[in-house]
Amino acid sequence: MRLEGRVALVTGGASGIGAATARRLAAEGARVAIGDVDDEGARDVAAELDGLGLALDVRDSRSARQAVERIEGELGAIEILVNNAGTDRFAFFVNTDPDLWEHVLSVNLYGVLVVTHAVLPGMQERRSGAIVNVSSEAGRVGSQGSSIYSAAKAGVIGFTEAIARESARFRVRANAVAPGPIETPLLNAAPEILGELGERLKQGMINATALGRSGSPEEVAAAIAFLASDDASYITGQTLGVSGGLSMW
Ligand SMILES: NC(=O)c1ccc[n+]([C@@H]2O[C@H](COP(=O)([O-])OP(=O)(O)OC[C@H]3O[C@@H](n4cnc5c(N)ncnc54)[C@H](O)[C@@H]3O)[C@@H](O)[C@H]2O)c1
Repeated sequence: MRLEGRVALVTGGASGIGAATARRLAAEGARVAIGDVDDEGARDVAAELDGLGLALDVRDSRSARQAVERIEGELGAIEILVNNAGTDRFAFFVNTDPDLWEHVLSVNLYGVLVVTHAVLPGMQERRSGAIVNVSSEAGRVGSQGSSIYSAAKAGVIGFTEAIARESARFRVRANAVAPGPIETPLLNAAPEILGELGERLKQGMINATALGRSGSPEEVAAAIAFLASDDASYITGQTLGVSGGLSMW
């Protein structure tokens, strides 16, 4: 199996893309830890996989350090990090306020820095590791109703490229995926928060894909597993669109 015996941490793995990724990595032989603010959900998914589910708030560096310490104590050194935890509050920029900015930036961008900062030094020291950051097409083409989220996800792409360059000499790779509309609770929060308008925004994203449909969490998980594996050994600093051709570069 492609990931036999590797230890992986998936943040935000209690739901959606993160849960599908945890399942996929485990199916490929990895020993998977799931860290989520929904610690019960994390433990439920982990129980299916004989993995480790634990409380992790990616905004909090102490929480991240404690989680990494526990994972490395129980499963071994983390060789795969999937920074997947994310959220959005869907509002047009003129209707947002600094509380929303702070919340959306802290989970989607600051959270990636926090968890990477807890894991990357060990990877560099061991001269081995693969990081996959879950960005979004919103970070490349911008998404209406998601301006702060788009800014955060663009930041994740820049960060991924910078750490890929800094870590290459340590044989640590870093890549990102940019999902398009994927059927998860996050995508469906747009209609819940904005009603009919949110439904139109969601449909607009689906219409913008070349394939003309939304994707499944499993389709994103397959791309993440590839980037985490040695099949992607000559790939670093890239952002792979998993979006039915919503963007094409
Ligand atoms: N669904 C889509 O259409 C879509 C598109 C592009 C990118 N993404 C990205 O994919 C990733 C997964 O999203 P999803 O669609 O599966 O959403 P989801 O809501 O199903 O799952 C997100 C998970 O992140 C967890 N989480 C939220 N805040 C957290 C925090 N502070 N610390 C730890 N965990 C936290 C949640 O509890 C949840 O389990 C996110 O980064 C999201 O931005 C999703």
